[in-house]
Amino acid sequence: MARITSFEQYQEQYKKSVDNPEAFWAEQAEQFTWSKKWDKILNWNFTEPKIEWFAGGKLNITENCLDRHLPEKADQVAYYWEPNEPTEKAVQLTYKQLHEEVCKFANVLKKNGTKKGDRVCIYMPMVPELAIALLACARIGAVHSVVFGGFSASALSGRIQDCDCKIVVTSDGAYRGAKAIPIKAVADEALEICPGVEKVIVLNRTGSEINMVAGRDVLWEDEIKMVNADCPAEQMDAEDMLFILYTSGSTGKPKGVVHTCGGYMVYTHYTFENVFQYPSSGGVYWCTADIGWVTGHSYIVYAPLLAGATSVMFEGVPTYPDAGRFWQVIDKYKVNIFYTAPTAIRALEASGLGFVTPYKLDSLKVLGSVGEPINEEAWTWYHENIGKGKCPIVDTWWQTETGGILISPLAGITKTKPSFATLPLPGVQPILVDEKGNEITGNGVEGNLCIKFPWPSIIRTTYGDHERCRQNYFATYPNLYFTGDGCKRDEDGYYRITGRVDDVMNVSGHRIGTAEVESAINMHIDIVESAVVGYPHDIKGQGIYAYVICTNSKKDAETLRKEILAEVTKMIGPIAKPDKIQIVTGLPKTRSGKIMRRILRKVAEGELNNLGDTSTLLDPMVVEEIKAGAIK
Ligand code: PRX
Repeated sequence: MARITSFEQYQEQYKKSVDNPEAFWAEQAEQFTWSKKWDKILNWNFTEPKIEWFAGGKLNITENCLDRHLPEKADQVAYYWEPNEPTEKAVQLTYKQLHEEVCKFANVLKKNGTKKGDRVCIYMPMVPELAIALLACARIGAVHSVVFGGFSASALSGRIQDCDCKIVVTSDGAYRGAKAIPIKAVADEALEICPGVEKVIVLNRTGSEINMVAGRDVLWEDEIKMVNADCPAEQMDAEDMLFILYTSGSTGKPKGVVHTCGGYMVYTHYTFENVFQYPSSGGVYWCTADIGWVTGHSYIVYAPLLAGATSVMFEGVPTYPDAGRFWQVIDKYKVNIFYTAPTAIRALEASGLGFVTPYKLDSLKVLGSVGEPINEEAWTWYHENIGKGKCPIVDTWWQTETGGILISPLAGITKTKPSFATLPLPGVQPILVDEKGNEITGNGVEGNLCIKFPWPSIIRTTYGDHERCRQNYFATYPNLYFTGDGCKRDEDGYYRITGRVDDVMNVSGHRIGTAEVESAINMHIDIVESAVVGYPHDIKGQGIYAYVICTNSKKDAETLRKEILAEVTKMIGPIAKPDKIQIVTGLPKTRSGKIMRRILRKVAEGELNNLGDTSTLLDPMVVEEIKAGAIK
């Protein structure tokens, strides 16, 4: 089926995808290389849940990302890699070179004992070898579990243990803006409590001094010299696991979202080509996400390669060496499609137009946004100053659990509206429900966003704990996948995501559970109890506000604050550091002992006179104290 090129075609495809989803997705799947065709297109129920797409089909996603393109695109660039430091040499990899590197590293993994089904933890900076490592795992049927390089040793060890990784791939160090990060030292600390890890493969990125553990650690550079580039692709069942990616929920520890091979491949590819209108909007694509998050998995690694696109991959940050870095890179590579997060847009807007005007930006055709709601002001700034008023903005709504984009305009086809993700993609059937799960029909309404039919890249399970997957996503409302997001549907039927309705925060586009931050804060010896909520933040979208009860420690508030920040950095990573910490003597609790977060949220938002009903509180005086000490 050809790419959608008009709004009428979108409507036709949408209708077809709802009337006959199986035929619709089978047609999409036909274009790929399968060593055996599927037996059944779709099996599903949302009760267990059990979801299978293309069951019985055999394939390897890397053959579809790489080998399939070699006859025509061997010498086309797959990745332009732009280093953190503009003066360092950039690297480019053609499809042929990437294929070779992936096969070689796949052989390195095998040589070090990795087998089909084994979990491999990847903890690396944004270097080409990171993409190579993911693809090498997929080549041999190993399951990658990438952990964002900004997570702490404690967060890393938790993820390694949860899915029982045998192998870790990491680097000596990492560069991020003006900072150098000792990645290997963090990994070593994590591995002290991970006896199941047998091998660590270390890439030399910064040339820094590192400790190598004899018998366990080997160097990427040494290993790669010992293997050849011949690595047949392991044939996987469509429903075999492709990767695990940890993400935060409203309770407990982060959970390992599982995606499988066939459906993920078909869906990410379909959405990439249609949302960004690749290739008609131009051949050079840049997604600024980190591969440590789902956006990087789907829209830096898999989908662009499946589509045979040329991508820019960037190691650094938007503000280093200055706030013109993104725009300079766009001009350097003549980027046509640019995909970034609202938090970056807001930060760059705040730096002033002086960093934008030196650049032409005339190669741009399509702009994308992902990860959090984009406010109207940021949308307009992006549209006018970066897109020069002529590039459509695709505000793409999706989640780690959805694998690919679910609600988004199609570039140049769907009429956009600032801060609206607009309409569901073909195959996606959203519904809004009230608290009790009753469907809210019609337009001009608001409710909790659910999806009522499976799309090919929907979450299959949470690793090692299927019940948790059921509880989290399929138990709130029977027979519906619950997203955790609130949503409006306006008079035109357009969807606008309003943010999480559970205890999950979205800080600079990073998903962080309040429970995780609380348990990190509670590790501090002087803290008795804490409660964490999100509040609106001009740049980050949401900031973190922590209320803490401490023992009679003699420490002054500033020392305590610094220590709490250090504790959170140690347990999770710097991204989860609270912006505001208020010391309190009690928390607003109901008679049954439940913290009334609604009140804490209102205080954090500065709405002190609009706290709603507080009559069910055990001790209403606590609220007065909290109001009096609220941090502006
Ligand atoms: O609240 C929604 C928000 O990010 C959450 C998913 O986070 P994560 O799994 O980390 O994946 C982020 C990248 C896909 C969602 O539940 N979110 C994501 N995209 C948007 C968004 N909120 C509003 N508009 C978006 N375009």
